[in-house]
Amino acid sequence: MIPVISVKGSKMPASPIRKLVPYAEAAKAKGTHVYHLNIGQPDIATPQVALEAVKNSSIEILAYSRSEGSDAYRTKLANYYHKQGIAVSSDDIIITTGGSEALLFAMGSITDVDDEVIIPEPFYANYNGFATASGVKVVPVISKFEDNFALPPIEEFEKLITPKTKAILICNPGNPTGYLYSQEEIKKLAQIVKKHDLFLLADEVYREFAYDGHTHYSILQEEGLEEHAIMIDSVSKRYSMCGARIGCLVSKNNKVIQTALKFAQARLSPPTFAQIASEAALDTPQDYFTKVIAEYVERRDILVKALEKIEGVRVAKPNGAFYCIAELPVQNAEKFAQLLLEEFSFENESIMVAPAAGFYSSPDMGQNQVRIAYVLNKESLLKAVKILNEALKVYKD
Ligand SMILES: Cc1ncc(COP(=O)(O)O)c(C=O)c1O
Repeated sequence: MIPVISVKGSKMPASPIRKLVPYAEAAKAKGTHVYHLNIGQPDIATPQVALEAVKNSSIEILAYSRSEGSDAYRTKLANYYHKQGIAVSSDDIIITTGGSEALLFAMGSITDVDDEVIIPEPFYANYNGFATASGVKVVPVISKFEDNFALPPIEEFEKLITPKTKAILICNPGNPTGYLYSQEEIKKLAQIVKKHDLFLLADEVYREFAYDGHTHYSILQEEGLEEHAIMIDSVSKRYSMCGARIGCLVSKNNKVIQTALKFAQARLSPPTFAQIASEAALDTPQDYFTKVIAEYVERRDILVKALEKIEGVRVAKPNGAFYCIAELPVQNAEKFAQLLLEEFSFENESIMVAPAAGFYSSPDMGQNQVRIAYVLNKESLLKAVKILNEALKVYKD
């Protein structure tokens, strides 16, 4: 007999773009330049203050920090939230190894095996992984391309609530949709979670990236939601510090914090150097964000305009984060994405996009859609769209 892996392990979903990676590698090995529109790794420089703080650190022992994160960082972070109109104290914050760990701690703290979490789809694919790791069932509620992925009618949520439902999870602004929920939409969610005694989990890692004069409205700004709201945050996107691996879980619900703290204690502490960098990053001058946001808006506008010029391509207008979902005139976007890497090149270049079906958990949804991340400079984005256009001219389903 040989030892066997767990049922949970075999159910654990791999990354939805995994199938395409070998094709991208093979294309590169052939000498084709590949534009990566498939990932959320920004090309924006990390603020100097953050990098300098690590370089200038005089640490002699790289010790564990406190399980909930360093006091200095949590205090300064609470200050930052105050400036955003979010009234929390350092006691309401647990520093985690990325927003990813905060999501795991949140699920671990509020769900039991077979509990259900309702999530508007399409959603960040790793929610499936965190749910599987926690033995939780994801119940999707469909948000529509035609509505730019606005919040589905609240009755649709209501229909899905069962005695097993523990929480509603939203991503605001959304990955992969780029949709920014309005204050009214958050208020509707607040009402339903209060009515049914549910938690409302909001992944707000793209909070700073709100465009066109819209401001982000956090679930922690909503009065009366103190016992229900759990917010997930991260420095990864805000300061282009994905490799720092620092995030946090924020809640006014002390039971949630005390429970999440036990998970935090089990893994001892978040990374020490990265907390130093993240604390210093809070001193990033406002003009850094002004510039970064202006850059993303310009990229988005250029990208969406160029995509919409292609016959048969439609884009759900994004007003936050740095992703958009595009509908292509193909039946199977995954096959098309594979062909782009395997067989096609234009002037020795090609593109990698993320087939959107991987962001849905309902079968057959998003088959003709792709997610495009505008994490490349404008010139590269335009070249990438040109390549897409040329490929669509020759592609037959
Ligand atoms: C919506 C969303 N949530 C959470 C994460 C996790 O980020 P990290 O663990 O780097 O903080 C990501 C990363 O891409 C994301 O897109």
